Amino acid sequence: MSDSHLTFFSLSSSILALLLIFIFIFKRKQTKPKLNLPPGKMGWPFLGETIGYLKPYSATTIGEFMDQHIARYGKIYKSKLFGEPAIVSADAGLNRFILQNEGKLFECSYPRSIGGILGKWSMLVLVGDMHRDMRAISLNFLSHGRLRTHLLKEVENHTLLVLNSWKHNSTFSAQDEAKRFTFNLMAKHIMSLDPGNVETEKLKEEYVTFMKGVVSAPLNLPGTAYRRALKSRSTILKFIEGKMTERVRKMEEENESLEEDDLLGWVLKHSNLSTEQILDLVLSLLFAGHETSSVAIALAIYFLPGCPQAMEQLREEHSEIARTKKQAGEVELTWDDYKRMEFTQCVVNETLRLGNVVRYLHRKALKDVRYKGYDIPCGWKVLPVIAAVHLDPSLFDQPQQFNPWRWQINGRRGSCSSSNGSSSTINANNNNTTNNLFLPFGGGPRLCAGSELAKLEMAVFIHHLVLNYQWELADSDQPYVYPFVDFPKGLPITVQNHSYLS
Ligand code: HEM
Repeated sequence: MSDSHLTFFSLSSSILALLLIFIFIFKRKQTKPKLNLPPGKMGWPFLGETIGYLKPYSATTIGEFMDQHIARYGKIYKSKLFGEPAIVSADAGLNRFILQNEGKLFECSYPRSIGGILGKWSMLVLVGDMHRDMRAISLNFLSHGRLRTHLLKEVENHTLLVLNSWKHNSTFSAQDEAKRFTFNLMAKHIMSLDPGNVETEKLKEEYVTFMKGVVSAPLNLPGTAYRRALKSRSTILKFIEGKMTERVRKMEEENESLEEDDLLGWVLKHSNLSTEQILDLVLSLLFAGHETSSVAIALAIYFLPGCPQAMEQLREEHSEIARTKKQAGEVELTWDDYKRMEFTQCVVNETLRLGNVVRYLHRKALKDVRYKGYDIPCGWKVLPVIAAVHLDPSLFDQPQQFNPWRWQINGRRGSCSSSNGSSSTINANNNNTTNNLFLPFGGGPRLCAGSELAKLEMAVFIHHLVLNYQWELADSDQPYVYPFVDFPKGLPITVQNHSYLS
């Protein structure tokens, strides 16, 4: 065969092959049922709408991006976020459905950068059996029994350590103080580190650098916050590993009995986790347990001065508890005292509803799912936005108002605006429904393992704060979503010592 014949033959067979591929794709498209995706747009190639979605906004709102998308497309819409096609849900029913079907229809799926920094054994990124095992360890460490017997006392000690250091008429960052409290508490409970020790302070410093990387763009380039955070991560892990080695040696010397009743001791004695797994567990519990509750406490400090009626009712509740204790000759708070902090629980709930420490969760669809006539394709990212439900005016009356009374069965007194101080009507309706819609700690099999500890920390901190101090914002500041909630100026406050105990 001549060269020209050969060229002609191979050209025509390539054209035929291409034609067959086109026919095959066309046929497949025709036979595959058309998906009814939610409305929305996919934005730019690769980036999609990520930049608009992540643009900072006030934490007591849902932000311009969400507002506009919900107005245009409804509470369920499609988009392209974090480099992937995504379904965003501001729909209470779908959010609950997603969380309840964890492991069946949906699965936890945080961006790879989170795994890079928190570690591949971090609970936030684990799924399946390994997640179940790590979760069991965390729940044991944060159990109801431990809260009563160990943690209440520790929480009170650490609260007093921070509050007693506040000088009359001084001005400081309330956010930093809240972080000092939650970090010290976690470091003690996880590794028996004492507050103020050189090593605890060093670890805290490293942790600040580490946190800056967790919230930054995941660019592993020289000079970036992410690169610095990766370096801090390895310093922190080396530190924890040193503590582990010390502890193992001590266990061998003292024939298995250990003085320290902390998480590190517990996992070393009772689990089969590898060193790498223990390190990631300790690091991620420090992260989960310290960042979130410190923001929640800072939010309560921010909301309360705007609502004098709530402050007054809190002081009544806590003075009464303190008076009864004094009469009984008791000093430390007991579990019964905590149970008597009923209005405080309303303040805690309202702070979490309006401030939304965790705004949305990362999931992906494990199968093709149909919900309310919409298709959620297998493999797509799914973002249940819990904050959008908490701030939905069709579900919460005047959602921008700080109104702790909405959590009472029979709401009393007025409500206070978080933004302009004007008062409005009481909303105590829909209490049952409201409880179903309120998911500050997520839900389903991944419900926050530390939710009860977080509420305890907030209540005990509020107890001593309102009984001993008056405070006001020293500079205008407000919580922003970056997407982690943060106060740009650190929430500067001026405090006055004032004993409200008669
Ligand atoms: C106000 C404070 C807190 C808030 C708002 C909060 C919120 C959340 C949310 C929404 C999740 C679910 C994440 C998901 O499903 O993807 C979660 C998980 C978790 N939280 Fe919290 N949290 C708080 C405090 C704490 C504390 C004090 C601890 C204690 C160490 C803690 C430990 C955890 C752990 C271990 C998980 C993972 C649970 C799992 O995957 O099974 N959290 N938290």
